[in-house]
Formats: sequence, structure tokens, C-alpha cells
Amino acid sequence: MYIVLEGIDGAGKSTQISLLKDFLEQNGLEVETVVEPTDSEVGKLIRKLLTRHDATSDAMQKTLGLLFAADRLLIMEKLNKLEEEGKVIISDRSFYSSLVYQEPREWIQELNKYAKIPDLVLLLDLDVEKSVARTDGTDEFENVEFLTAVKENYLKIAEENGNFKIIDANNGPNKVSSDIKKAVAPLFDICADCIR
Ligand code: TYD
Repeated sequence: MYIVLEGIDGAGKSTQISLLKDFLEQNGLEVETVVEPTDSEVGKLIRKLLTRHDATSDAMQKTLGLLFAADRLLIMEKLNKLEEEGKVIISDRSFYSSLVYQEPREWIQELNKYAKIPDLVLLLDLDVEKSVARTDGTDEFENVEFLTAVKENYLKIAEENGNFKIIDANNGPNKVSSDIKKAVAPLFDICADCIR
């Protein structure tokens, strides 16, 4: 099972991944977490480029699109192996991040045609103003104009894909966590009504 958390910067993905991991483990499942960009050489280069002032320029966005796709290919084998071992994979981001952050969409889709399709995508939907207030502004993407477009892209893609569940991330972390657990429970025959 491959579960992905998506959302604009500062949506609370890492906190929620850790809470979801605990919940699934308490229910007897073996869980592995992954983060994109990864800690590969390509991932390290990506993190460096994200801090550049021209990171949102057309040329740099296309370059990042290529690098994110390459970084993703490097973890494909690991993901398939974990799945074969019966582990639940929870990932912080996936190729859907490239589809909503980078352009043009058809080309990004093509670059990611070998990427693994998640069984479930939990889209943590947060107000852009809250997102920007939560981030430290180190990355060039962390600004209202850019993230407003990303948020719109996310909502559009969620509508087009049946594997998306939108979670209101403006609520407090406990409510967000219980909404996530309720969305995930049916995948593992866990009683959703028993979750507070
Ligand atoms: P990170 O510091 O991990 O941000 P966050 O913790 O908010 O997820 O940096 C990831 C940044 O890279 C984030 O701004 C989203 C962006 N990104 C893309 O633009 N395309 C992608 O394919 C991925 C995976 C991330």
C-alpha cells in the first residue's frame, strides 16, 4: 500500500505522517516513511536550487521538473521492494507535487510516466496566508502568489483523480489527524467510526 501526503508548503505533512505512522503501527501494520525530494545526490542538488532567487523562472522550473523526476526514479526500486514485503509506505510528496508545482503539465506528466501511482493521496488543503506564515521563506516557492497557483492546481488535480481525499488542514492538528485516520481506515479494514 502506497499512501501519499500532498499539500502546499507548511500544510503540516510531516507532523501528520508521524501521527499516521503511529496509528497504523498500533493496528499491527509495518510502516516505512519516505520523503521527496530524497537524500540522494539529485535530491541534495534540488534542495540547493530551491533556495535560488530564480527558482520560479521558466528555465529553472523546467530544470527542477527534470531533477524531481530523476530523484523519483531513484527511489522506485526501494518503493516496489517495500511493497513486495507487505509494508505500508507513507510518502511526503509524490509525482503529483511535480504536476502542481512545475510546468508544462503534459511534459511533466510524460517525464513521470514511470512513477508509482499512489493508492491514496491525502491532500492537506491549507489557506495560502497560513502556509506562508508558517514557512521561513528560505525557499523561493514560499510566497503567496506562487502558492495560490499551486493550491488551485492541487484542487483541480484532486477533482480529476479518484485516489485523492481532501483534508481541511486549517483545523487543529488533532482534528486533521482524526480526519486522516478516518480516510485511511477503510483501506485496512479498521473501524472508521471508532476513531475520535
Ligand atoms: P521541502 O523543504 O521538503 O518543503 P515541504 O516541507 O514544505 O514539503 O521542499 C520541498 C519543496 O519542493 C516544496 O516547496 C515543494 C517542492 N517540490 C516541487 O516543486 N516539485 C516536486 O516534485 C516535489 C517533490 C517538491
